[in-house]
Amino acid sequence: MSELLTVDGLSVQFATPRGNLRAVRDVSITLNKGESLGVVGESGSGKTVLSRAIMGLLPSTATRTGSVVFKDQELLTAAPDVVRELWGIDMAMIFQDPMTALNPVRRIGTQVTESLIVRLGMDKKAAKAKAVEILKRVRIPDPEGMLRKFPYQLSGGMRQRIMIAIAVSCEPQLLFADEPTTALDVTVQAQVLELLTELRRESNMAMILVTHDLGVVAGHTDKIAVMYAGNIVEYAPTRQLFSNMKMPYTEALLKSIPRLETPTGTRLPVIEGRLPDPTKELVGCAFANRCAYATDKCRTETPPLTDGGNNHYYRCWFPIGGAN
Ligand SMILES: Nc1ncnc2c1ncn2[C@@H]1O[C@H](COP(=O)(O)OP(=O)(O)OP(=O)(O)O)[C@@H](O)[C@H]1O
Ligand SMILES: [Mg+2]
Repeated sequence: MSELLTVDGLSVQFATPRGNLRAVRDVSITLNKGESLGVVGESGSGKTVLSRAIMGLLPSTATRTGSVVFKDQELLTAAPDVVRELWGIDMAMIFQDPMTALNPVRRIGTQVTESLIVRLGMDKKAAKAKAVEILKRVRIPDPEGMLRKFPYQLSGGMRQRIMIAIAVSCEPQLLFADEPTTALDVTVQAQVLELLTELRRESNMAMILVTHDLGVVAGHTDKIAVMYAGNIVEYAPTRQLFSNMKMPYTEALLKSIPRLETPTGTRLPVIEGRLPDPTKELVGCAFANRCAYATDKCRTETPPLTDGGNNHYYRCWFPIGGAN
């Protein structure tokens, strides 16, 4: 397998009125062609900022340090137009809310054909034919009819399929899917994830699937990065992570997943406490004040990234089940 993306020691800070906000801290990941990575963590842990930092889609108040190499090219120092060339063509992104991401006053057909015409230089007729083909690929019934519709005429699931169609239209090698299913009901969620996995396999596309739900990534990723306070705190092949979880934080996330057999209305255990203030320096383990197993050592000494073997890494002084 060949490497597509190598992120090394990536950090992101925002200049804010309250001081420097550290949203991503020293993150390193690698992704091979066709591979899929789940990025999981609570709200505010830095998942979206990490994805946007890799793509170069951050506001001017952000500073990135470290390295992002995509297809053998360093992106952190690349000229803005070189990076812009990659958007939509080599790397594409699906956003959380398809209602705001689609233009409400333009027909679906215009929106799906746009990058085919502008970016790939197709003429209108060829772009339309290609759009129909893409809509078929994302299992949209009556694709020709769909091209004439407006976003408000579609259900949430259909809008998300259109977003996926637009994202994969130029056959990107890397797709970011940021919480692609949170706005959808459970059955539609499952269908959308199944579709993403199928598309990925068909075209050997790599994917970074961002979610707060460990259950979502379980069946749809090759490996998982668990984020907490901007840091990757556990990183392992998916099967390995579920069979030999090391971080108390990951365990707590897993316990907060609703299950099919959970009766509606049941209150799920949420992880008590909050993320540390991102504008303050961290001392010790960032999760210590919320962790059932924390000791004084955890509160004062920062745990290093430990290599547990089997490509399994974690940051914890007292991993579940011991060091291996
Ligand atoms: N433009 C910005 N300016 C300042 N701070 C920001 C900006 N965008 C994000 N942040 C901060 O960076 C941190 C990480 O945010 P991020 O949006 O990546 O979290 P997330 O894990 O994607 O959360 P969610 O699950 O809610 O989408 C948060 O503390 C957030 O407030
Ligand atoms: Mg987010």
